[in-house]
Amino acid sequence: MQKILEKALHTASLSHEEIITLLGSQDAAPLFKAADSVRRQTLGDEIYLRALIEFSNFCRNNCCYCGIRRDNKKLNRYRLTPEQIIALGNQAAQQGFKTVVLQSGEDVWFDVKILTDIITELKKFDLAVTLSIGEKSREEYLAYRQAGADRYLLRIETTDQELYHRLDPGMSWHNRRRCLQDLKELGYEVGSGVMVGLPEQSLSSLADDILFFKELDVDMCGIGPFIPHPDTPLAACEGRAFELALKVMAITRLLLPDINIPATTAMETLRPQGRLIALQSGANVIMPNITNFECRKLYELYPNKAKTQDNGPDSLTTVLAEIKSIGRILGKGYGGHRRKKY
Ligand code: 5AD
Repeated sequence: MQKILEKALHTASLSHEEIITLLGSQDAAPLFKAADSVRRQTLGDEIYLRALIEFSNFCRNNCCYCGIRRDNKKLNRYRLTPEQIIALGNQAAQQGFKTVVLQSGEDVWFDVKILTDIITELKKFDLAVTLSIGEKSREEYLAYRQAGADRYLLRIETTDQELYHRLDPGMSWHNRRRCLQDLKELGYEVGSGVMVGLPEQSLSSLADDILFFKELDVDMCGIGPFIPHPDTPLAACEGRAFELALKVMAITRLLLPDINIPATTAMETLRPQGRLIALQSGANVIMPNITNFECRKLYELYPNKAKTQDNGPDSLTTVLAEIKSIGRILGKGYGGHRRKKY
């Protein structure tokens, strides 16, 4: 293992075989330590915050793992008004956030006109605007970019196409790949990512995922453990692979030393200190949720996702205290991807 880590530290590259060896290791502490040191050397101690707004839980898709899938009839659906979204953006800017992330299910109510208007308003608050609203046409992506959107998050979910088509019925892996390509070509900073611990997902497939991030040359990468939701077809699955997800994240840091990697909410959900552990194993970004509590409860991708106490993990006080507790500092500026030589 030490030899593989040395190679990664010197070359920022690993073979498929070497990645599998790291993923299968019993004691991953040296891997996490190596990822933490790459993060420190490349990016320093700054942690960047992104204010997350979950503005609609309507979704036209039916992904088998996801709590807001179309066929989940138990879920009450909500959609914020454009005015509410803009007000939240304003609030985020007042609180000192430099980035807002607009996330939703694939909700066609928000058409190009409505969304471009929202983006235009948000840009007036001197914010970087990140969209996370799923698969759209190239023309739509272009319209949002021209309205001022800076970044886009679209997880590939898995690079195993067979698994993807089983878990996302009616969707096309190639279309998702096309979306990522369009977003890159249109000049977005592009974030992708996967879930870890999906049923029948192998270590080999996870190694493919990591090499895919490298090949796509992502600017951001969100990696989280799959957590089964009781009102989905995958309710009885195991999932909850915290340690394995952490390994995937750490190896991604080794291969892409300067990208932005969030400590994901799914990690925090599975472990009391999950977020802090991630921040010390390669991550450098936190995405506090600023959606109002009533809606947040309904954006239930997986159980126990939403923490709705005033002093919970999403409160700015908690986040700042955590950053300080591990000797890190709050990043200034927008915190976009700055490419470094390595
Ligand atoms: N467990 C963990 N992550 C999930 N996501 C969706 N459903 C689940 C689940 N049950 C992730 C997907 C999606 C992101 C917004 O949330 O990767 O891209």
